[in-house]
Amino acid sequence: MTSKELRKFFLDYFAKRGHKIVPSSSLVTDDPSVLFATAGMQQFKPFYLGQDSPYGKNVASCQKCVRTSDIDEVGDHSHLTFFEMLGNFSFGGYGEDFKGEAIKLAYNFIFEELKLSLQDSYFTVFEGDAAVPADKESEAIWGRMAGSRATIQRYGRSDNFWGPTGEVGPCGPTTEIHYKNTEIWNIVFNEYYQGLDSSLKPLAQKGIDTGMGFERLLMMVQDKGTVFETDLFAPIMGKIPGADMRARRIIADHIKSSVFLICDGVLPSNLERGYVLRRILRRATRYGRLLGLPRDFLMPLAETVIGIYREVYLELAVNEDNILTAIHAEQDKFEKVIDEGLREVKALEKTLTGVSDGANDPRIVAELSASDDMINRLFDLYQSKGMPLELVFEEFDNDHIHYDKAGIQERFNEKLKKHQEISRAGAEKKFGGVGGEVSEEAKKLHTATHLLHSALRKVLGLHVKQMGSDITSDRLRFDFSHPAKMTAEELVKTEELVNYAIREDLPVDKEVMSYEEAIAGGALAFFREKYPAEVNVYSIKGYSKEICAGPHAERTGDLLQFRIVKEESSSAGVRRIKAVLGQVK
Ligand code: ALA
Repeated sequence: MTSKELRKFFLDYFAKRGHKIVPSSSLVTDDPSVLFATAGMQQFKPFYLGQDSPYGKNVASCQKCVRTSDIDEVGDHSHLTFFEMLGNFSFGGYGEDFKGEAIKLAYNFIFEELKLSLQDSYFTVFEGDAAVPADKESEAIWGRMAGSRATIQRYGRSDNFWGPTGEVGPCGPTTEIHYKNTEIWNIVFNEYYQGLDSSLKPLAQKGIDTGMGFERLLMMVQDKGTVFETDLFAPIMGKIPGADMRARRIIADHIKSSVFLICDGVLPSNLERGYVLRRILRRATRYGRLLGLPRDFLMPLAETVIGIYREVYLELAVNEDNILTAIHAEQDKFEKVIDEGLREVKALEKTLTGVSDGANDPRIVAELSASDDMINRLFDLYQSKGMPLELVFEEFDNDHIHYDKAGIQERFNEKLKKHQEISRAGAEKKFGGVGGEVSEEAKKLHTATHLLHSALRKVLGLHVKQMGSDITSDRLRFDFSHPAKMTAEELVKTEELVNYAIREDLPVDKEVMSYEEAIAGGALAFFREKYPAEVNVYSIKGYSKEICAGPHAERTGDLLQFRIVKEESSSAGVRRIKAVLGQVK
């Protein structure tokens, strides 16, 4: 079976058994507690909590996922940062025997439809702990299905309990199918809700969330030793020459993540999602250099990725130009950074080790420690040259330099955190003024910022995300993700939309609610490490709904008139608008 056939085979199987097939959601989700979709259940999270599913109670999907937690393992036979997850999901639709139903569906698919060998498989179940009882039921069900040939193993929280994604949400004990010692299907019984305080509360409705790594399943079905030999990777691998298999696999994986992330509106930056993308792209570039690939080698690889998936994910064809442009720009930029950064690392090695050429010099035996001097130098390299610490480490490794990796990493992170706190405090002060006093003018500009944000999303598209905001007493500044300079027409439309909302003189409503309620109600939020339990949601009916500290103008009419005074580049993939409010109606 080809990948296309297997994907369809899975979805058809569930469609025939009363499941609605739902397309993959974007990798960029509305859930601000996660950076990317990491599982099929992500887009269905609210339905486990009782919100009505427009698709019915039983659904199946093939979901694009990005997980960076395993990035260091990419290069072995099966770990990836981008993968597809096959899954079936039920929001109380499998009846009383929901565990039996879920297990039967999985069992039949794997052993009767795909005819994988039961001899080469085993099953795992949750062993129970103080908070959640042992899953005796699943154990008995597997026993009934597979008879005496069933091998069943019991494990604790770290192996057989899943979720939530992000900070809060549905979660529960799991049972898994392992084939040839690789986990292939995870079946989660969403019986609990984990709140911000980490407590587990039983859910009224019995949920099922399952996930099967598509590339892994394909590897089994196509009888390959690694995912990189399946038809989802072979064409990419074929275009990456070189002897270093790990490097080739990393490049093949990373270019895929990059293509799909950019396709869903992420652009390289130094913030949040954009930063993850930047790191992935830069890491691929770096490995390309190690293999001696030509500059711009990522272009043909990106085209190959689009070729493999264009009939499955139609958005790839639509965004092809944007994807290639963004990859080209970032690679070009980073090649220059590397040239300069590597010169600096060499100089650093020389200063720190006292040896003129660090490369392969057996005289270097002393270990570089996490000294103040070391941290300052590395931080400066990162801050001013854009040279990521992990690439410095790789360079040290290549040159056989001994160094205290964990210690340096820890102190570097501390410094980075302190640095970020200082800049955040600066930003708050600028906006809030001394002692939190906010002028009437600043309130209006703040409301105008929300209107501008929503207008940009309407005019340019939903890839527009707030990347930064700054308000003084007489102007607003708004940074947002967008790959190109705005046209005159787009600027006029944006201005008009904001002015239209001002003329409607709509009230700016404020509600205080739990963070979960705000998200469930569709409020926009921005990924942060932690939101307080209670948040303010400011809404302007028909225009905008955002989680925001405030304060705001009372009505949009107070803004009188909105005018964009400048649109310019802020950084790669980020545009900046400066705008003012008129004094006279
Ligand atoms: N949501 C579960 C997982 O990702 C199925 O493994």
